[in-house]
Amino acid sequence: TTIQLIGAPTDIGAGSRGASMGPEALRVAGLIEMLKAHQLNVIDSGNLAGPTNPWLPPVEGYRHLEEVAAWNQSLHEASYAALQQGHLPIILGGDHCLGIGSISAVARYCREKGKDLRVLWLDAHADFNTSELTPTGNIHGMPVAVLCGYGPKQLTRIGGRTPAINPDVVHQIGIRSVDEGEKRFVHQVGLEVFDMRYIDEYGMREAMERALAGMTENTHLHVSFDVDFLDPSIAPGVATTVPGGPTYREAQLCMEMIADTGRMASLDIMEVNPAYDVKNQTALLAVDLVDSLFGKSTLMRDSK
Ligand code: ARG
Ligand code: MN
Ligand code: MN
Ligand code: MN
Repeated sequence: TTIQLIGAPTDIGAGSRGASMGPEALRVAGLIEMLKAHQLNVIDSGNLAGPTNPWLPPVEGYRHLEEVAAWNQSLHEASYAALQQGHLPIILGGDHCLGIGSISAVARYCREKGKDLRVLWLDAHADFNTSELTPTGNIHGMPVAVLCGYGPKQLTRIGGRTPAINPDVVHQIGIRSVDEGEKRFVHQVGLEVFDMRYIDEYGMREAMERALAGMTENTHLHVSFDVDFLDPSIAPGVATTVPGGPTYREAQLCMEMIADTGRMASLDIMEVNPAYDVKNQTALLAVDLVDSLFGKSTLMRDSK
């Protein structure tokens, strides 16, 4: 396998500055060296360029809509090109609005190849707001809704088909902060959400078994990892921390169970924000977890 790293250094969709430093933080934390230690071929295609952050208030429910569209359009092209070359793209965010460009590309590729797409959304948030529902106007709170066709056409049309995905391909894990109107909308479209209540009651193992159930050789598994998924005590370097997230062990199990499927074909690592971090520990933890995602394990295990 050839891994292609694509940096998207922007905080254009966030409510705080600093996620633009995420790609370098992940490289400095040893992401490339870790991947190479798995005998993977790694191409670092560097960082995409895009508009600077004008840091303006929301207009009609969207903050920086045109700039968000520009970043996601170029991320879409870069991710799609990587997939077409047979590479496994890893998107280094950047805030989570970039899931629009990344996942629309994966969806387009899967459509053309006749593959079944499944998206695992690891996050404290559902990211299912619309301009009517959002309390902030920050587009990093909207990518899942946009991908499902709910949002402005500048964003829903990226990738050539609206909606880019059906809600039933999305499986969310770790959710614990959903806005009032957003909650109703998540319920209305029937998103599959394994929230922290579910994980407390049934455990990460059960949540992951269900989220990963029914995959075949034809499944393309995309993992969208918002590092605010993790408990803030282990991952403070994020602008939108929410208490009560997965522990180190729970997060490891989550990643190991994904690795066991052998089906992950694209990955986003989003929202690492060095401005909130101490000694780059959040990027280091993300690299440690991605190590498990690529199959690091304590002992030799039979996969499946
Ligand atoms: N729900 C909140 C909002 O819409 C927070 C979203 C946080 N999203 C994220 N990708 N960190 O503003
Ligand atoms: Mn998110
Ligand atoms: Mn989040
Ligand atoms: Mn499903």
